[in-house]
Amino acid sequence: MRLDPHSYADTAQPQTRSIDLTLRADFDRRVLEGEIALHFRAPGCGPLDLDTRELRIDAVTLLDGTPLPHELFAPEPILGARLRIDLPPGTAGVRVRYATSPAATALQWLEPSQTMGGQPFLFSQAQPIHARSLAPLQDTPRIRITVGTARFTVPSPLRALMAAAAKGPDVFEMPQAIPPYLLAFAVGDLTSRQLSGRSAVWAERAVADAAAEEFGEVEQMLVSAEELFGPYEWDRFDILVMPPSFPYGGMENPRLTFVTPSLLAGDRSLVNVIAHELAHAWTGNLVTNASANDFWLNEGFTVYAERRILEALHGRDSAELHAAAGLHDLHTALERFAAHPELTCLRNDLRGIDPDEAYSSVPYEKGSLLLRKLEETAGRPAWDEFLRAYLGEFRFQSITTQEFLDFLEARLPGLASRARALEFIDAPGLPADAPQPRSRRLEQLRAFEVEPANPAELLVVLQALAPDSPRLRELDARFGLANRRSLELRHTFVLLQLRAGAPEAVDAARRILLASGRMRYLRPLYTELARRHPEAARRIYQEARAGYHNIARAAVEGVLKQQGALG
Ligand code: BES
Ligand code: ZN
Repeated sequence: MRLDPHSYADTAQPQTRSIDLTLRADFDRRVLEGEIALHFRAPGCGPLDLDTRELRIDAVTLLDGTPLPHELFAPEPILGARLRIDLPPGTAGVRVRYATSPAATALQWLEPSQTMGGQPFLFSQAQPIHARSLAPLQDTPRIRITVGTARFTVPSPLRALMAAAAKGPDVFEMPQAIPPYLLAFAVGDLTSRQLSGRSAVWAERAVADAAAEEFGEVEQMLVSAEELFGPYEWDRFDILVMPPSFPYGGMENPRLTFVTPSLLAGDRSLVNVIAHELAHAWTGNLVTNASANDFWLNEGFTVYAERRILEALHGRDSAELHAAAGLHDLHTALERFAAHPELTCLRNDLRGIDPDEAYSSVPYEKGSLLLRKLEETAGRPAWDEFLRAYLGEFRFQSITTQEFLDFLEARLPGLASRARALEFIDAPGLPADAPQPRSRRLEQLRAFEVEPANPAELLVVLQALAPDSPRLRELDARFGLANRRSLELRHTFVLLQLRAGAPEAVDAARRILLASGRMRYLRPLYTELARRHPEAARRIYQEARAGYHNIARAAVEGVLKQQGALG
């Protein structure tokens, strides 16, 4: 049976337990060439269906090299191409020699001009279903794998880093079982700074010191997170600062979180992203969504956990500020999906839908509000005990929303119904009795009774403004909003300026769109630009496109087409 709508993996077939990888990076041809070995949980026979996307398959053999009959099917739009291998009785594993495509959706090959140090760079981003463009495998989080050995060959002076344990130069292993979407590596001219005994930051030389300063709180975050959720199971927590084209704020690759360089705001104002990726070590990497249908189990839990860490470190007011900003994002997302309310449920049926297109703040913020509702209904002590039991019960497993609900009912009978959890889970929109972030400080800020004292406060004030408010100009004059290093503030400000019809907004938007490929900023800015200045939107995209990841290009082109700014 095929349980994951986005994978050909079949429960009746052998399941992969571990893989070995040998890959050579060819920067001139933009391909990885090499081999993957798949070792099964138990010897099996009959058909084995693997996921692939745009791979060139050169040879399929048994582990001893005996050739095996196989067929690469025609590609499907979302799933990619099924590779079916015929296994003789008693097969313990297979080997596939293959090459990736220059268009691999999980990879970005950067020119020397696109990095700070003038060296080429390569990185992977496999979540949600792009691992299949890196290697033929069972690309579903239901089938967790360890990595025996991963060996990279890269041109000097570059080095490979993998979200795994280092065994030697460019050689790695991953002893804990992970979903394939957590396979991740980068190749570049990288240097490191120690942050604590178990944490370091990797970056290009030019930003290494700034990164070490920005992320100086990491050890305290680890300590707080362990107090809340139990021991950190992944040994090291390193951070890799990516080139600007990295399409996400952060990605929770195990042992080596990838982050956008736009986090380097100089004032530690964006470290909630680090708290978030760290929290995934428990919620997501230890307990994993069974498929994209249950994505909120990863992200809703992680936003909730992120804010618990922030509360422990910086106090309740600070966590409430972030919750308020998140609720604002949620309302924007609910508007974006007005025509597709079914995509605003927490539990989804994404058969035939590309998870990258269904992506939004909904699973994040609506999910975290459900958990907050459960916490408030149960009381924090009982809820925290439940959380730790949940993490213990399902550690190193991949589960569905139903398994979460069943465990909740067993441990805290009646809580789900008292909190009306199913309204969050299976109904669109936001229940009227959803929790409201609340603090005296928030009220004062929103009533403009007090001056914002830090970037998070400034953000909440901006989000409370109507575009035509005269305060916008005042705040810009006072805080230099259009030139902030934090794109979080700057893009919120520029969106308001665009809505207000300010002529300088187009160039302010352009500067952000050229500076970063983070989709969180691209999507709203291009949407607003394309609505009001379609010609400028198209022109800026042509200028910036080379600096964007494939996934971001697809997202921006979707926005421009939808707004009629692209043919
Ligand atoms: N795992 C996500 C990023 C992701 C999600 C990549 C789905 C591909 C598919 C990561 O943990 C994340 O949520 N990043 C956020 C951080 C924010 C919520 C603090 C981001 O990139 O904005
Ligand atoms: Zn996340």
